[in-house]
Amino acid sequence: MKTLKTETRGRVALLTLNRPEALNALNSELMGELREAMATYGTDDRIGAIVLTGSEKAFAAGADIKEMQPRDYVGAYVEDLFEGWSAVASMRKPLIAAVSGYALGGGCELAMMCDFIIAADTAKFGQPEITLGIIPGMGGSQRLTRAVGKAKAMDMCLTGRMMDAAEAERSGLVSRVVPAADLIATAMAAAEKIAGFSMPATMMIKESVNLVDETGLAEGLRFERRLFHSLFATEDQKEGMAAFIEKRKASFKHR
Ligand code: CAA
Repeated sequence: MKTLKTETRGRVALLTLNRPEALNALNSELMGELREAMATYGTDDRIGAIVLTGSEKAFAAGADIKEMQPRDYVGAYVEDLFEGWSAVASMRKPLIAAVSGYALGGGCELAMMCDFIIAADTAKFGQPEITLGIIPGMGGSQRLTRAVGKAKAMDMCLTGRMMDAAEAERSGLVSRVVPAADLIATAMAAAEKIAGFSMPATMMIKESVNLVDETGLAEGLRFERRLFHSLFATEDQKEGMAAFIEKRKASFKHR
């Protein structure tokens, strides 16, 4: 692939956005390649978790402004511009964003499509679309508001200011902040740990947590309980609990 580097380490796929000349600006070629990678690893039994990262300077500086500038309304509407990124949001296997440097506009939105974000202490998040005369178009107004609440989301989207890693962690946008030099190792270790668990269980956790944004509490609790019940049909539940009782490490079959 031209704009995406892919490698696998054990049961983890590491995807690296690779347009250094444009600070990993998200163009249609990159979207196509990332969609392809999601389809490949999403159906590969040997892969249990995915890490998505960029460069030291930029996770991604947003949608590609040069590609977007000449677009017109009819073309954008008919093509449903940016709908293609939903392949990332709908990935069923755990997906961690490892963010160093700029995560702006579509870059911040892409990171928020992942299940959680681990940030380097150099990370800077922002939704600067307002400075271009537009608004977020890959989910920023929705996912950022759910992540950090109305006050901060309004502040970020209306002023276009950036948030540093410490503020992002305080606000609940990122799950942990680590020194830049430890970013990939930390994200890969988290992914490796997840990939060692029972895959149906990790997938159900994603499904259940993600339902929070779409449903009320009573329905969400019922859904979680039904998924919970269904796991008693798996050998991994028997193995996981037997391993605890026998004081040994579980060896899950459905990985
Ligand atoms: N699109 C296209 N090219 C971009 C880009 C983008 N989003 N961001 C950076 N680049 C390019 C620059 O044009 C420059 O290319 P040239 O060398 O050919 O001039 C190269 O990457 C390096 O960038 P800078 O020279 O600007 O680097 P810097 O260190 O001085 O500044 C920055 C870094 C503050 C991130 C600055 O590049 C910047 O503000 N980028 C744009 C950020 C932005 O507005 N993102 C939102 C895009 S809209 C969007 O994402 C809509 C959506 O919701 C989906």
